[in-house]
Amino acid sequence: MSALKQLQQIVGETQVLTGEAMTPYLIDWRGRYRGEALAVVRPGSTEEVAAVVRLCAEHKIPIVPSGGNTGMCGGATPDESGRALVVCLARLNRVREIDTDNDTITVEAGCILQAVQEAARASNRLFPLSLAAEGSCTIGGNLSTNAGGTQVLRYGNTRELALGLEVVTPQGEIWHGLRGLRKDNTGYDLRDLYIGSEGTLGIITAATMKLYPLPVAQRIAMLALNSLEDAIAMLSRARAGFGASLTGFEVMMGPVLKAVVRLYPQQRLPFEGPSADAPWFAILELSDSESAEHAQARFESVLGAAIEDGLVVDAAIAENIAQSKAIWHLRESIPLAEAELGKSIKHDVSIPISLIGQFVKTTNAALQAKFPGIQNIVFGHLGDGNLHYNVARAPNQTEQELLATQYEVYQLVHDSVHAHGGSISAEHGVGQLKRDELTRYKTELELRLMKQIKQALDPHGLMNPGKVLQT
Ligand code: FAD
Ligand code: MLT
Ligand code: ZN
Repeated sequence: MSALKQLQQIVGETQVLTGEAMTPYLIDWRGRYRGEALAVVRPGSTEEVAAVVRLCAEHKIPIVPSGGNTGMCGGATPDESGRALVVCLARLNRVREIDTDNDTITVEAGCILQAVQEAARASNRLFPLSLAAEGSCTIGGNLSTNAGGTQVLRYGNTRELALGLEVVTPQGEIWHGLRGLRKDNTGYDLRDLYIGSEGTLGIITAATMKLYPLPVAQRIAMLALNSLEDAIAMLSRARAGFGASLTGFEVMMGPVLKAVVRLYPQQRLPFEGPSADAPWFAILELSDSESAEHAQARFESVLGAAIEDGLVVDAAIAENIAQSKAIWHLRESIPLAEAELGKSIKHDVSIPISLIGQFVKTTNAALQAKFPGIQNIVFGHLGDGNLHYNVARAPNQTEQELLATQYEVYQLVHDSVHAHGGSISAEHGVGQLKRDELTRYKTELELRLMKQIKQALDPHGLMNPGKVLQT
C-alpha cells in the first residue's frame, strides 16, 4: 500500500491534503519562501501524530511540523524537493485541563494562543504570552520558536511559561512529560531542549503552562520622546519606579507609527500638534495587584517626574479599556503595516540595553555609508533589549534592488550586533532565514554540540530538515 493510502488510514481521507489544497502550507505568510510537499496531513490526536511519524520513519519521509504558519523565518515551509510531509497540528486544539490550585493550564499544541488566553481568563487567571499574531499562532509554534512578545520583561519568553511537554519523537514514540512541577532537577532538561528547537527534534503535541493572577488594575500610556536614548533612560526609571509591576515597555520610530495611521485611517495617534511628530514613541504598561488608585498614583509619580525633567515630551495616558486597546493596537499593527509597505530586510536582534543607543547610531551610519538612502524601520521590545531593526528600500531603489543586497545588509547588521555582544535572533528563531548566518556567529564548539544533539535524537535527519542547522 502506498504511503499516502496508509496516511489516509491513520487520519481519515479528508485530513490528507494534496494538490491545490496544500497551497496555504507551502508558502510562508510573508511570501518569502515557497516549497513543495508530498502531502499535508492533519492528525486529530497525539496517537495519530505518533502513527504518522512512525510511518514517515519507516519510509524515510522528512517531516515539516506546521502550526499557524505565522513564523518569521520560513521554519514551517517545506523545501522545494516535494519529498516532505507537512504535519499540521491545528486539529489538536483542546484545552485538556485548567488547574487553578496549581495555576497551570494543559493545552494541545494546535490551540490558538488567543484561545489559551481566553480559557485562562474564564478561570480568572492570566496566561501572559501576548503577541500580535495571537489570533492565529498556535501554542505549539510558540513553544517551538520560544516566542517572546510584549510581556516578556515581566513574565519571560514562552520557555519560562512552560512546565511540561508531550512530544512525539522522530521514531514515533510519545514522551509523556506533562508535569506541572515548578521544580524538577532529575537530569538533563528534555523540555527545554524541545522548546525553541523549531520542529527539528520532534513534534510537540501538548504542553502544561503556567498561569498567573489577573492584574487588579492596569495603566497604559503612549509616550512621545526626543530620542532612543531618552526611551532607554525612561525604561530605567520605569524599572526602578514600578519594579515587577512594569509589564510592558515597547519602543517605535515616529515614522513607523505614522505609516500605521496612514495605512489604517480608522486608527489614530493619541497626540496632536508637535508631539505627533516626535521621532520616537514608547508604550508603557503598569500592572498593579492592589487597586486602580494605587496604579494611578504610581504611574503619575514616575511619569510626572519624567515630564518635568524633560525626558518625556508628552504622555497620552489611556483613560479606559478602549483607549488602552487602541494604544496597543497601534503597536500591534506595525508588522502587518510593514508587510503592506513592501518587502523589507528584517533583523530580530537583542543587545545589552546599555549599548542599544550606540548600536543603532553606528549601524545606521555604516548602512548609510554603504547603501545611501536606505531607510530604517526600527521598533521592538526595548524592555527586553530586543529590537526589530529592519531596513526598507531607498527612495530610488526597487524592491528587487533592495533584496539583491539582502545578504550584505544582514552581514553588516549582524556583524554590528555581534560586536555589541548581542544575538542575531532574539525571539523569532532561525528557520531557514538565518540558518547560514548562524554559522558566522556561533562558535565551532556550539555548532558541533548542536549537531551532536540533532544526530542523537534524529539520526536520519527527518525532522524539519534544512532548518536551524545545515544538513
Ligand atoms: P508556525 O509558523 O506554524 O511554525 C513555526 C516553527 O515551529 C516552524 O519551524 C515549525 O516547523 C515549528 N512548529 C510549529 N508547531 C510545532 C509543533 N507542534 N511541534 C514542533 N514544531 C512545531 N514572535 C515573537 O517571538 N514575538 C512577537 O512579538 C511576534 N509577533 C508577531 C506578530 C505577527 C503579526 C506575526 C505574523 C508573527 C509574530 N511573531 C512573533 C512570530 C512568531 O514566531 C509566531 O507568531 C509564533 O510563535 C509561531 O507560531 P505558529 O503556530 O504560527 O508556528
Ligand atoms: C513584533 O514585535 O511585532 C513581532 O516580533 C513581529 C515583527 O517583528 O514584525
Ligand atoms: Zn517582536
